[in-house]
Amino acid sequence: MSYILAIDQGTTSSRAILFDKDLQPVQVAQQEFPQHFPASGWVEHDPADLWATTEQTARDVMAKAGIGPEQVAGIGITNQRETTLVWDADSGETLHNAIVWQDRRTADTCAFLRASGHEDMISETTGLLLDPYFSGTKVKWILDNVAGARDRARAGKLRFGTVDCFLIWKFTGGRVHATDATNAARTLIYDIRKGEWSAEICDLLDIPMSMLPEVRDCAADFGVTGVLGGEIPILGVAGDQQAATIGQACFMPGMMKSTYGTGCFALLNTGDVPVRSQNRLLTTIAYQFDGKSTYALEGSIFIAGAVVQWLRDGLGIIENAGETQALAEAADPVQDVVIVPAFTGLGAPYWAPDCRGAVFGLTRGSGPAEFARAALESVGYQTRDLVQAMQADWASGQGRTTLRVDGGMAASDWTMQFLADILGAPVDRPEVLETTALGVAWLAGMRAGIYPDREEFAAGWARSARFEPRLPQFERDRRYGRWQAAVAATLGVPA
Ligand code: G3P
Repeated sequence: MSYILAIDQGTTSSRAILFDKDLQPVQVAQQEFPQHFPASGWVEHDPADLWATTEQTARDVMAKAGIGPEQVAGIGITNQRETTLVWDADSGETLHNAIVWQDRRTADTCAFLRASGHEDMISETTGLLLDPYFSGTKVKWILDNVAGARDRARAGKLRFGTVDCFLIWKFTGGRVHATDATNAARTLIYDIRKGEWSAEICDLLDIPMSMLPEVRDCAADFGVTGVLGGEIPILGVAGDQQAATIGQACFMPGMMKSTYGTGCFALLNTGDVPVRSQNRLLTTIAYQFDGKSTYALEGSIFIAGAVVQWLRDGLGIIENAGETQALAEAADPVQDVVIVPAFTGLGAPYWAPDCRGAVFGLTRGSGPAEFARAALESVGYQTRDLVQAMQADWASGQGRTTLRVDGGMAASDWTMQFLADILGAPVDRPEVLETTALGVAWLAGMRAGIYPDREEFAAGWARSARFEPRLPQFERDRRYGRWQAAVAATLGVPA
């Protein structure tokens, strides 16, 4: 019983990662699945794909490692957050495709609730913004649009869940309908201070509370699955960004992590205080142990790794992402090209969905190298925007903060050095880059009793590299000033 199976059900693929008794990832299996775009701004996943790829990758990773279920002490589940499923309590049949976090179909509902004066109460209760990103208005949409759904829900016949909850239901053959506090905190119907579903918001959205799962700690008993050839308990659950925060051992107030995937999500641990943002950041639960929540401020930017994909697929100036760093290094140091990659609007702290991207500072000599450098720099500038907003929101966080990074782009030394330079703060890259999976593996393994407690786990966290800021202060300020001017100009251009 010396392995932990971590399942990372993400937006574009499902992954299963096996960790050994020393918390090292030893085997990985991954499967992509189709994205469905039934209308402009709509994004759906087929629930059957979510389940099939999860189950298959779990089987594959065990087969690849040559181990059986009796050697697995527990399963940890981490997941794309906010994505919404509704299913029949008896048959388990889903009523609709999963409505993905990126889906904008409930923008009108959000606008209506805002115009009706509900935003303040909802933000105060949930820590979130009135935005289609979150689950609540998606549940309402399914109940409003699937024939007979609301009546069935009122009769107690339907169940709602985010992806973790749906997978737990599938893994346990419908015996367990539960989620964890971090996933609940992304639904727009959960009171993050009281730690319970909000009857007031459920009433407002006409969501019968009988649909809602039981909310448990991140390390807890979520039932036992028999579908992988033997009995394995599910012992850890956390939304993917929270799992990365745990994997980065950001357990002390003031600690911060930033994950660079397609976009970027930064979380700052604020301890037992849910800080209400004045800068349109989100207040969320970072993790919950023994019934006690630890809170975080969260900021997300939509385009991080995606800007490199754009260099490759949109501009055709690189063939693969790995070439970007060498190109950036070759850029003319006196040119000041700035790219504002607002391809799908700007996220935190601007929240300007209709804004579109722009390039500034072009000269006759600007070419692929300057574009590559500006693209990578845009990730650093946007991270500084988030960090500054966090520091403005939370007075205690104004000291020198070290940023712990993970995700694909964290592998780029050039980008991480620029990040440290523009933040004026050290950037730490961990030894285990599978940070999200590590977080949830640790949760499950700790619960199973094979991994150390929180203090020992945090003490064992090790970095593979530290990037110290090298840019003189005046140059940091000059460059960041140019970025801010570029964003202001971009926001000023009507879409
Ligand atoms: O909030 C959405 C986030 O959890 C999705 O993460 O890694 O699946 O794109 P990812």
